[in-house]
Amino acid sequence: MIVLEGVTKVYTLSQEHKVTAVHDVSLEVAPGEFLLVTGRSGSGKTTLLNLIAGLTRPTTGRVLWNGVDLWSMSDRQQARLRSRRVGFVFQFPSLLPALTMAENVVLPSAFSVNGDRQGAHEQAAELLSTVGLADKLLAYPRQVSAGQQQRAVIARALFNRPEVLLADEPTSDLDEKTEREIMDLFQAVHADTGLTIILVTHTAELVSYGTRHVRMAGGQITTEED
Ligand SMILES: Nc1ncnc2c1ncn2[C@@H]1O[C@H](COP(=O)(O)OP(=O)(O)O)[C@@H](O)[C@H]1O
Ligand SMILES: [Mg+2]
Repeated sequence: MIVLEGVTKVYTLSQEHKVTAVHDVSLEVAPGEFLLVTGRSGSGKTTLLNLIAGLTRPTTGRVLWNGVDLWSMSDRQQARLRSRRVGFVFQFPSLLPALTMAENVVLPSAFSVNGDRQGAHEQAAELLSTVGLADKLLAYPRQVSAGQQQRAVIARALFNRPEVLLADEPTSDLDEKTEREIMDLFQAVHADTGLTIILVTHTAELVSYGTRHVRMAGGQITTEED
């Protein structure tokens, strides 16, 4: 489904100062895989996710989605891919403080033209109950814990029924117990939906999660393990 062919990303800061954030990475992610990518800070994990999502253009190499080169797509097709086919979860829960939890989850529908508002709110309620927040629909983000906020972010990422969920250090701001709970939630979402998940983390202890694990160092995938 997602194929990276010899992908390199070089950031040019100045003529003399270039950073190779991702170096000649080839990777295939099959539909339904839960790929866990570990690596220290600075190893290129975020850049890898941005390349996969089409948020960053490779310096060399190709990123293919179902056989189609991301950078041969029109802007419109790319935007559609990002809004419909991919769900994002970032390190810091990015909920809007002035909206309730339920309103935050329906936010993705605000960008679609033929919105069914009633249906959207029902779906948000259902998703929030799936992630264990049935009683927090009308709460504001500040009224719930960081772990609960991250659960709502996961619910929001699932709102458009994406094919792929990309998660960048989704637990690194959480205590150990909450981290486990959030990882268990990713595992449950994966089991229930068969969604493809790519989750990157610097926390090596999380390798027990996921169906496959790869390690990154210095912009390269150094080990490929089952
Ligand atoms: N936008 C950018 N401009 C310049 N350098 C960057 C940029 N993004 C990342 N880098 C550099 O690329 C390397 C990999 O960064 P990153 O992908 O963020 O790694 P990780 O997510 O594993 O911490 C680091 O050396 C970082 O400083
Ligand atoms: Mg990062």
